[in-house]
Amino acid sequence: MNSAPSVFFYDRATDVVDHTSEVLEGFRRKAKFISPKFFYDERGSQLFTEITHQPEYYLTRTETALLQEHAGEISDLIGEDILLIEFGSGSSTKIRILLENLRPSIYAPLDISRDYLAQAAQALGSEYPWLEVHATCVDFTGDFELPFRSEQRHVSFFPGSSIGNFERTEAEVFLKRVRQLVGEGGGLLLGVDLKKDETVLNAAYNDRAGITRDFNLNVLSHLNREYGTDFNEAAFDHLARYNPDEGCIEMFLVSRVEQTVTLANESFRLEEGEVIHTENSHKYAVDEVRQMALNAGFGSIRIWSDQDELFAVFYLS
Ligand SMILES: C[S@@+](CC[C@H](N)C(=O)[O-])C[C@H]1O[C@@H](n2cnc3c(N)ncnc32)[C@H](O)[C@@H]1O
Repeated sequence: MNSAPSVFFYDRATDVVDHTSEVLEGFRRKAKFISPKFFYDERGSQLFTEITHQPEYYLTRTETALLQEHAGEISDLIGEDILLIEFGSGSSTKIRILLENLRPSIYAPLDISRDYLAQAAQALGSEYPWLEVHATCVDFTGDFELPFRSEQRHVSFFPGSSIGNFERTEAEVFLKRVRQLVGEGGGLLLGVDLKKDETVLNAAYNDRAGITRDFNLNVLSHLNREYGTDFNEAAFDHLARYNPDEGCIEMFLVSRVEQTVTLANESFRLEEGEVIHTENSHKYAVDEVRQMALNAGFGSIRIWSDQDELFAVFYLS
């Protein structure tokens, strides 16, 4: 679909991953699991954007401030005439901080949330008429390829500490894949939430306005609509807590009652108090990221962090 001269949209959502099998596999486990990627239907994306405005959610404002403060230096390091690929672009808000300085030839946002991505790409195309936007709806946990060709040098942007949703070993594998994608001369601008006092972390994932709770519960409505499950949101509570042994925030839905849920003709029983694990958000020390980047084959690493060392932005090349 080509919706405007400079905005192109590619739908590759189901090319590489069978989502129904993935949901079923998560439910058959002893400790039930739903991948965090299922948070993101259109409402989920809107709720996530609302989360980023909550006072407890320091991640977005800290990363944004870092990008603003260092935009010139970051742009100089990255260089001109690039293909800029953003993983999990959501509202494409953060990239706006860099666009005027960077002036990439092509901006390629990738996201699983189809309608939200399409709207964000259109908005960006209208705001920056000089920019060519190639938006792809894709599950980036699969082994996908870009649906278009570009001779430009490739640079990736992966903000929001979304890398924290991967298990630690998977995160390194993902970095390796990005390194292959960007190739020689390419780079990755990566935002990572750092390890810190757990009261700060617990507050960020339990905002007082209850937006993270609504975001967590919304995964059930998304599964009902897309995969034909019969969840009742009201029968679950939100639970998010820091696990210091794993160095990660773990998010769950807690069954308020004993209940049965069906998916693709299979029934799953939930005891009262039983949890469904919906997200891990791993927190890193700067040195852990440095090591992971080296293991993934990146040679040069630049790091910017805030005074309180809440968050860090890395440029790996
Ligand atoms: C935590 S939000 C971050 C949004 C934005 N980049 C930011 O920094 O504020 C994660 C984004 O990644 C997308 N996403 C999550 N899992 C994905 C997957 N497996 N494949 C593609 N996009 C995914 C979501 O739709 C969402 O827009």
